[in-house]
Amino acid sequence: VSLKNFNSFSIDAFARYFVEINHKEDLVELFQDPQWLQTQRLVIGGGSNMLFTKNFDGLVIRINIRGIEHRINHNEVTVEAGAGEVWNNLVNYCVDWGFAGIENLSLIPGSVGASPIQNIGAYGVELKDIFESCEAFEIASSETKHFTKADCHFAYRESIFKQEFKNQYIITRVKFKLHTQGQINISYGAIADELLKRGIHQPNIKDVSQVVSAIRVSKLPDPSTIGNAGSFFKNPVISKIEFDPIHHLYPNIVHFLVDDKVKLAAGWLIEQCGWKGKVVGNTGTWKNQALVLVNHGNASGLEVFKLSEEIITSVKEKFNVTLQREVNII
Ligand code: EPU
Repeated sequence: VSLKNFNSFSIDAFARYFVEINHKEDLVELFQDPQWLQTQRLVIGGGSNMLFTKNFDGLVIRINIRGIEHRINHNEVTVEAGAGEVWNNLVNYCVDWGFAGIENLSLIPGSVGASPIQNIGAYGVELKDIFESCEAFEIASSETKHFTKADCHFAYRESIFKQEFKNQYIITRVKFKLHTQGQINISYGAIADELLKRGIHQPNIKDVSQVVSAIRVSKLPDPSTIGNAGSFFKNPVISKIEFDPIHHLYPNIVHFLVDDKVKLAAGWLIEQCGWKGKVVGNTGTWKNQALVLVNHGNASGLEVFKLSEEIITSVKEKFNVTLQREVNII
């Protein structure tokens, strides 16, 4: 089965076996056949955070569990969504109902079930700020387990599902805690600027959602026309001791203090190395956001991966900072 339509990089890799899951019970049924417990497996939702560098000689499990519902309790609302729902459909559902908390996460590609795995985040909000719990299928036992927020060990682009529990669970549903009388969050500079530009002085959540969407569209390539997986690398977080000599050499380096550490803007580092907008064969970095690697058409995954290695090397040489990939390499 070609995976080209199942990954936002549009890489034409093939899967040996492929199954689509529409209900949690399909998973129980699937793993009744012990063959699949022994086979290499890959779970995909929107396929928006992965790069195939070769064919996948195993079973691809595509999660398509749907459904969104909510329960209001005074000022709080619990929204529950199937793992296969498109993330932005969930955002639109909440924005249309007037449920606050999720609007800054508008237009992030991918599925609901993938959102806790790397604690997606943008424009001043992270998934962990609105996450209540999730339901997951434990592959080894075929049992349903529940994870609270504390269980998930969320951190910047991290959770327990990328660490100790990697490949052991399949997330089937996610519960979010939102508010009917919520406070909006426009702490991210670009949002405030754009609202001002539009002459909006008392923004509601719909305004915030629209502004965030507009900023994303202006900066990030649309995967339906130009293959990409959003930020290819994480923003590096380093200690102050490591930061000082770099800051001395590059006084205008973009950086943010996070607790006792310093977060650097990977996009800035990459741009300073001369990569922004550069086309390398069928691949390159995006003209408006150097942190995004793109497929200009017919790129192989290996070609994109090689470019990422060159970028890591040049950032290391110039800044002595090692970039970590955010995208999963398959
Ligand atoms: N910058 C440059 N050159 C570039 C790109 C960025 O100088 O080519 C500078 C910007 O001027 C700005 C700073 O870097 O001062 C930060 O840029 P931006 O606001 O675009 O955000 P980012 O740090 O590059 C992160 C997330 C994005 C998220 C945005 C907005 C990561 C790895 N990426 O990007 O998430 O949308 O913030 O909150 O944390 C994703 O994870 O796929 C993703 C798109």
